Amino acid sequence: MANDASVVSDTLSPAVSKGSLADLFTPPADSTLWRKNFLLGAATASYQIEGAVNEDGRLPSIWDTFSATPGKVLAGDTGAVACDHYHRWEADVEMLVSLGLEGYRLSIAWPRVMDAAGVPNRKGLDFYKRLLNRLKEKGITTFATLYHWDLPQHLEDRGGWLNRETAYRFADYADLMSRELAGTVDAWATLNEPWCSAYLGYGNGHHAPGLADDRFATQAMHHLLLAHGLAVPVLRANDPASQKGIVANIGRGTPNSDSAADQRAAHLFEVQHNAWILDPLLKGSYPQDLFELWPGTEPLVLDGDMQTISAPLDFLGINYYFRTNVASDGAHGFRDVPLEGVERTQMGWEVYPDGLRDLLTGFKRTYHNLPPIYITENGMASDDQVTDGHVEDTQRISFLKRHLAAVDQAVKAGVDIRGYFLWSLMDNFEWAFGYERRFGVVHVDYSTQKRTIKRSAELVAKFLKERKARA
Ligand code: FCB
Repeated sequence: MANDASVVSDTLSPAVSKGSLADLFTPPADSTLWRKNFLLGAATASYQIEGAVNEDGRLPSIWDTFSATPGKVLAGDTGAVACDHYHRWEADVEMLVSLGLEGYRLSIAWPRVMDAAGVPNRKGLDFYKRLLNRLKEKGITTFATLYHWDLPQHLEDRGGWLNRETAYRFADYADLMSRELAGTVDAWATLNEPWCSAYLGYGNGHHAPGLADDRFATQAMHHLLLAHGLAVPVLRANDPASQKGIVANIGRGTPNSDSAADQRAAHLFEVQHNAWILDPLLKGSYPQDLFELWPGTEPLVLDGDMQTISAPLDFLGINYYFRTNVASDGAHGFRDVPLEGVERTQMGWEVYPDGLRDLLTGFKRTYHNLPPIYITENGMASDDQVTDGHVEDTQRISFLKRHLAAVDQAVKAGVDIRGYFLWSLMDNFEWAFGYERRFGVVHVDYSTQKRTIKRSAELVAKFLKERKARA
């Protein structure tokens, strides 16, 4: 088994170890990525990899319900088995270690660890305890996200994120997890991408729970942010040694022309995608032009909420994937104008590394209290095939190299960026796109669950090995 995960760092495939492909990935000598304390890891999320949805007392989540609804997910795929990580976690940790990855960002499935009355589910908790303990034994830095979209269905049945009460239930969940798992988590992220939960889940219905109303989206967003703000002090009290933060997806919007209307459209795009999250967290207020875009969608905000939401953060997680080229819609808003002749991924997303650099340096100018940053997701999907035991994911290698160069440029421009997590460790359930879109640096054959290290992962491993040897 030449390409067996457990031996990859010692026996890289011949083309890689000869060095002929090394310059496809290896950062230049003056890159800040060579510094040893720049954490390089990989990320996953519970519903996307675990499977075992009916085991050991796990309750249904909104994604079980949504994916079981015909027409919601491509090819009718569900996360029922996914990468079967719930049963294969030990081998998956070995694989991570064999690649020399230093950090692992995982998420905890809320419906696995607590029932509707808030009673802990020991079996579910034990799964995460075993996993996190093993990661710590192996010297991996652990980032745990409390909410990566798998809301317990019983909470959705009571209104989900439209119900303010869900924010308080989230704080109870954060309390249980940080008491149970204190000492095994280096960094807690409360939420993954609240913008996506709110807009895709409640605004356009592309994601669970599948509701579509602009007013729902903004109210869900406020309750998500409130949940975050209520959880932060709880995490601090129970697990003082760990870092506390949140993960936001950010979007680069560029104007389709020099016209004032298109410039304004690009500005509004970024307000809607970035300031919507970062202003409440870092300034304690919502950006005013936001509700000009959608009059009548202001969420109900109670006294004290904005103070709760702007609780100080130890880190900010940033997920970046692509840019959107926009023009004025002729009224107050913006519309997408897809560019032709640009490089795109299997998702159709434009490859645009400068967007990551420009957003990061822009945030530094805008927010005087910008916390240290981790890039908590970046990566791309490609239609990867295994040929003779290998996966030549050349576009991904180049994508990663260019985005890491953008990170390096932002660091050199003074942004405090401490690490980068590849999305994703392995191919997995890509939400509404099911299993068709492959984001992993490890290929998964879903009929056998065989993992095959892709060329990109080999090159990342080679870089990490060299960096370690230089220490
Ligand atoms: C992000 C999600 C992650 C994954 C990537 C491709 O929005 O956080 O789970 O699906 O996109």
